[in-house]
Amino acid sequence: MLVKAARSRHGGFHTPVVASVGPDGLPEVRTVVLRNAARDRAELTFHTDRRSPKIAQLKTQPRVQWLFYDAHARTQLRIDAFAEIFADGPVKEARWEASHPMSRECYRVALPPSTEVDRPESIPEPLPDGHEHFSVVRTRVVSIDWLYLHHEGHRRARFDYGEAGIRASWLVP
Ligand SMILES: Cc1cc2nc3c(=O)[nH]c(=O)nc-3n(C[C@H](O)[C@H](O)[C@H](O)COP(=O)(O)O)c2cc1C
Repeated sequence: MLVKAARSRHGGFHTPVVASVGPDGLPEVRTVVLRNAARDRAELTFHTDRRSPKIAQLKTQPRVQWLFYDAHARTQLRIDAFAEIFADGPVKEARWEASHPMSRECYRVALPPSTEVDRPESIPEPLPDGHEHFSVVRTRVVSIDWLYLHHEGHRRARFDYGEAGIRASWLVP
């Protein structure tokens, strides 16, 4: 489902929520687009502006929790992962090359995301190119909490990703 969701705009898993830890130790959540899911390497990827607060947060505490919910599939996933930032280098370049021109537009904004402005119109003209600000956050899955809602009884399971493989266990929903 995750591999499919990264490739298709349709379906609830395409726009998950990613939580990080803020500078005050409090949770910070935001919606992102799931850009890639690599099943063999247990990796999930999103793109962001390297100037955004979440990048600073991940540098301090490189841990995230993903939240996926697909109402149609009645499935929720809560995924703990380690985050790695690629602001330069081949991983970034490959994803920049593959990204749609429309998606690249966001990175042309002249001021860093979250900068306070007097009025929405007072943001300076966009930069000619957003390449410098584009960055990739690739996360490695530590565990998955899977919840499937069913009228005859919900199902919940946990998958722990370790050196020796994946350990699966049922949980009380
Ligand atoms: C549907 C949707 C998709 C979004 N996708 C992204 C994304 O892929 N990357 C991103 O940085 N922000 C994305 N955003 C904006 C974030 O939710 C957030 O507002 C922004 O990144 C600022 O987050 P921060 O202040 O925690 O850094 C998206 C928002 C929505 C509503």
